Amino acid sequence: MEVFSRDEAHEKTQKFDQMREKKAFDESKAGVKGLVDAGITEVPRIFVDHPENLQSALASSNGHFHVPIVDLADIAKDPSRRKEVVNEVRSASKTWGFFQVVNHGIPTTVLEEMLDGVRRFHEQGAEEKRRFYSRDFTTSVAYHSNFNLYKTEAANWRDTLFCVMAPNALEAEDLPAVCGDIMLEFSKRVMNLGTTLFELLSEALGLKPNHLKDMECAKGLVLLNQYYPKCPQPELTMGTSRHTDSDFLTVLLQDHVGGLQVLYQNQWIDVSPVPGALIVNIGDLLQLISNDIFKSSEHRVVANNMGPRASVACFFYTATPPSPKLYGPIKELISEGDPPKYRETTIMEYVSHFSANAKGDGTSALQQFKL
Ligand code: OGA
Ligand code: NI
Repeated sequence: MEVFSRDEAHEKTQKFDQMREKKAFDESKAGVKGLVDAGITEVPRIFVDHPENLQSALASSNGHFHVPIVDLADIAKDPSRRKEVVNEVRSASKTWGFFQVVNHGIPTTVLEEMLDGVRRFHEQGAEEKRRFYSRDFTTSVAYHSNFNLYKTEAANWRDTLFCVMAPNALEAEDLPAVCGDIMLEFSKRVMNLGTTLFELLSEALGLKPNHLKDMECAKGLVLLNQYYPKCPQPELTMGTSRHTDSDFLTVLLQDHVGGLQVLYQNQWIDVSPVPGALIVNIGDLLQLISNDIFKSSEHRVVANNMGPRASVACFFYTATPPSPKLYGPIKELISEGDPPKYRETTIMEYVSHFSANAKGDGTSALQQFKL
């Protein structure tokens, strides 16, 4: 018979209760929105985060720093303007790993309709959403709350609709009726913007414009329609815990509510909503193939009690079907003085390590691929 001290026994009971509560929440298939609709006034304890994470959330937002804004107007027709933009993209990608783009070619009406679509999906009846509820990441369309629910100590105040939009085209019938059409329209435009961004990033690395596209960085697109319900006690939980993105590149559309923060020079800086803009951030796989020239920065979303927040994170990487291609530091970027820092990997292998490690504490999966 095992003998536990009172503290150990207490801890064991707590762990057991937590697991039971997580399971009950998962099996409700109604997400955080379901809790809010049920009228809860306190955050259930499975969502209550460590005080240290929360304190730094409150002490954040240094007004001295702002994520760079890059104006993409005229880059196709004005070579000197393009050069300036490439320099801005290089500098932002090396230091912040984040920038916002304006005049990116996607009309504001499309952005607004996309965010309306996210709200429509998450605000429809629980029965309609439940049909899509799944933790199977090999399916193309899945709705769930907290992809890493059973791995983290504290769950996040967020629900997600996950859709693999490319390389295999989805039909409107495969997608939820309330947002399928706008997702197809928005994805098509984000794919075009992705081509432009990967050209600029290639040039910023001193490579031919098509280099990253030829490596198939822009081939796959996954949309994460994120919904952060109004939180009764935002001082107790996080919307999204600190993390880096596992993909090559993320294009993020956020609404007017705010709450996204990026870690820059060891401080959490607000990525303030700019009407009509899109946020671009470097993911782990681009840090790996750029041999650490570009930086995949940690970011997070704080919870709020102002109202629901909607966002769409567009992940450029090939999720399904898995690509057999191997990715390692780009040959042109390595030399005797700059040896490769990472071993080669497939996207699937990288993302599996990433998910297994997604504990919400900021530990990077990239470390495991270091040479
Ligand atoms: C993500 C993410 C931020 C947001 O989905 O990886 O960082 O604003 N989202 O929802
Ligand atoms: Ni992210």
